[in-house]
Amino acid sequence: MDYFVKSIASLLKEKTNLREDEIEKLIEIPPVQKMGDYAFPCYTLSKVLKKPPNSIAEELSKTLHAISPVAEIRAIGPYVNFFVDKTIFSKMLLKKVHEEQDLYGSAKVGSGKTIVIDYSSPNIAKHLAVHHLRSALIGNAIYHIYKTLGYNCVGINHLGDWGTQFGQLIVAYKKWGDESARKVYTVTDLNNLYVRFHQEAAKNAALEDEAREWFKKLEAGDSEAKELWQHFKDISLKEFQKIYDMLEIHFDAFIGESFYNTMVEDTVKRIKKKGLTKISEEALIVDLEPYNMPPCLLRKKDDATLYATRDIAAAEYRMKTYTFDNMVYVVGSEQKLHFKQVYKVLELMGYDWANRCVHVDFGLMKFKDGKMSTRKGKVILLEDLLIEAIERVRKIIEEKNPSLENKDAVAKEVGIGAVIFTDLSTRRTKDVVFEWESVLNFEGETGPYVQYTHARLCSILRKYGKPVTADINYELLKEDEAFALVKNLSQFPTTILKAAEFYEPSLISNYLIDVCASLNRFYNTHRVLSDDEELTRARILLVDSTRQVIKNGLSILGIHSPDRM
Ligand code: ARG
Repeated sequence: MDYFVKSIASLLKEKTNLREDEIEKLIEIPPVQKMGDYAFPCYTLSKVLKKPPNSIAEELSKTLHAISPVAEIRAIGPYVNFFVDKTIFSKMLLKKVHEEQDLYGSAKVGSGKTIVIDYSSPNIAKHLAVHHLRSALIGNAIYHIYKTLGYNCVGINHLGDWGTQFGQLIVAYKKWGDESARKVYTVTDLNNLYVRFHQEAAKNAALEDEAREWFKKLEAGDSEAKELWQHFKDISLKEFQKIYDMLEIHFDAFIGESFYNTMVEDTVKRIKKKGLTKISEEALIVDLEPYNMPPCLLRKKDDATLYATRDIAAAEYRMKTYTFDNMVYVVGSEQKLHFKQVYKVLELMGYDWANRCVHVDFGLMKFKDGKMSTRKGKVILLEDLLIEAIERVRKIIEEKNPSLENKDAVAKEVGIGAVIFTDLSTRRTKDVVFEWESVLNFEGETGPYVQYTHARLCSILRKYGKPVTADINYELLKEDEAFALVKNLSQFPTTILKAAEFYEPSLISNYLIDVCASLNRFYNTHRVLSDDEELTRARILLVDSTRQVIKNGLSILGIHSPDRM
């Protein structure tokens, strides 16, 4: 907590030539309690003073005098380690959590700043794929993380609703679609039309030309083309929305690629004007060879624009509309090159904000259970996956806690929470292996485990049955397990800051696992409810604060915290 870091920094300032803010940045939190609560590494001083860090640490620890809230100072290797007054520390932290409740962890560092987050962004007329799910969940968590830090967040779903493939779809629909059944068309039907188109086009190349013609018509605003395209889009959005609703994922705007159709012309003009374009094999490109990248394609030989062209136009539009401080694209790692090219072109166009665009990439989700990928054709239907998660949890509840009220609601919160937590518990750039046994393991490092820990804490509080107060004897929370838990809870705000800095929600999920482990160590060694009223009151405050931190953390990840499970 700042107060302690500041107190330590002011002690150190007296004995070193470093500024207080420099010292604050250097202060670390040791990994284990026996090394103290805070540590000051002496490497920086060692360079300045040309002395080994260990001897500097030794000297400093002798000349520094511990004054409250610092209780003891000790050199350990190249570090000066500080032990704080546990009572003061616990009191400050637990009072804060108790006062701030749902707001504990919030900050104002982002106030006045805007971040644009582009996430999920699926392609219409196709099923929402697993990478769109990952993007949705990671993006949604990043949205909450930045919101918690006071940023103005703009969540955008950059729908893939433009491109030559819609010409193909129109051709397929006109040839093989059943117009009378139009109203009941689903994404699966649209997908089948695509498949049919490619099968037929392999035999009859003229179909491709027809498709290109139709896409040109669409780009030119032809009313029949537009009407069909809009219809495909409506069908798709309805299906996507069902999944977003299940996951409770919200977007501030659905602005698809088609939106930029009228703007790309000017964008291309600006790029040309900067002298950046070239014609290559009849296509309009930006040569990126000097930057060791393949060229960025702006227009094909038939004049149609491309994914990258629309992304460049979109970036300009977003800057103009939202004047963002940062913009992140939550998109799979396979598009690394695409974003590097787009950013390069923006930079070459002279936009100084190009370096404030970040590609938040992520790995694949792999399914161990082979069965899942063949359930309905080759694609895993996400809706099926979520429904299966809920059904499986429903069964577990029926076995373990058949008298639970609101079984359906709890099954939904736990089932969906389990999927979200799995997705967010590994570093995002790593691949995630999805396996039901581990996803739903109530004893593993899973969503259900964290939710279950939360529900257990709620149950202790129900048993206690009285209001929780922060007016307790803090001397009573000095035991190692209690204090370790307090310290864990104190790390929540910094964890959020770090998660924001690295766009890494897994820092929060892993933190929550640590809090649960710490809580369990406390709970297994100390009775919370006892005849000793004063002690009970103190421990109840700790229990309630832990409950609050778990709830706030899960909420950032987009997961509910049921009171009973
Ligand atoms: N629709 C694209 C896809 O499914 C993802 C779009 C990501 N966002 C963007 N601005 N390019 O691969």
